[in-house]
Amino acid sequence: MSSRIEVYPDALHLPAVLAPGEQRRLAARCLAIGRGPAGWYVPRVRGGGLMRVRMVCLGRHWNARTYRYEAVRGDHDGRAVLPLPADLAELAARVAAAAGMRIEPDVCILNYYEAGGRMGLHQDKDERPETLDAGVPIVSLSIGDTARFVMGGFTRREPKTVVRLASGDGLVFGGRSRLRYHGVASILPGTGPSGHGFTGRFNLTFRQGAT
Ligand code: SIN
Ligand code: MN
Repeated sequence: MSSRIEVYPDALHLPAVLAPGEQRRLAARCLAIGRGPAGWYVPRVRGGGLMRVRMVCLGRHWNARTYRYEAVRGDHDGRAVLPLPADLAELAARVAAAAGMRIEPDVCILNYYEAGGRMGLHQDKDERPETLDAGVPIVSLSIGDTARFVMGGFTRREPKTVVRLASGDGLVFGGRSRLRYHGVASILPGTGPSGHGFTGRFNLTFRQGAT
């Protein structure tokens, strides 16, 4: 089993939880999904600005205007959302188990950050109240360049910890940490392993309670 670093109670960083071969296969999947029909788009948030990341949702679509999950890409091109492949859902459950938690995900948000990509501080709180209350975790998997991931408290202003999420790393935050503010401060270009067939960083977050 890979090591587990407790960032906060019930927020565990699992360095290199994905073996190199698994990372390469997952990177190829992400590339194919992103380049395919109903692939990458850049969400426009409520304030009107474009996010600094490309996105594809699997299972359910996260609408950046309404902050709701839906069956079609209502804030973009109206296409039907792609299904969440069973093997990816199983992978998320395996990683959650390695952190001592459980998930039966119904959605995966795949993010693609290039140099300059980032994500502002936010809480993941658009899933069903039952799953939030139960502390069902978010399972995050990273491939490619290292990210400076920031995690804080339950208000924006609380002190924050920086976690360097490298290729193959998992981060599982549930239970008492399910609603912590977090974001991506920056990507460290050129830090990912070679041979993955892309530059930049993929991050997959698996969630339960989007349906
Ligand atoms: C997210 O918070 O939704 C994505 C985090 C990441 O890219 O590591
Ligand atoms: Mn998030």
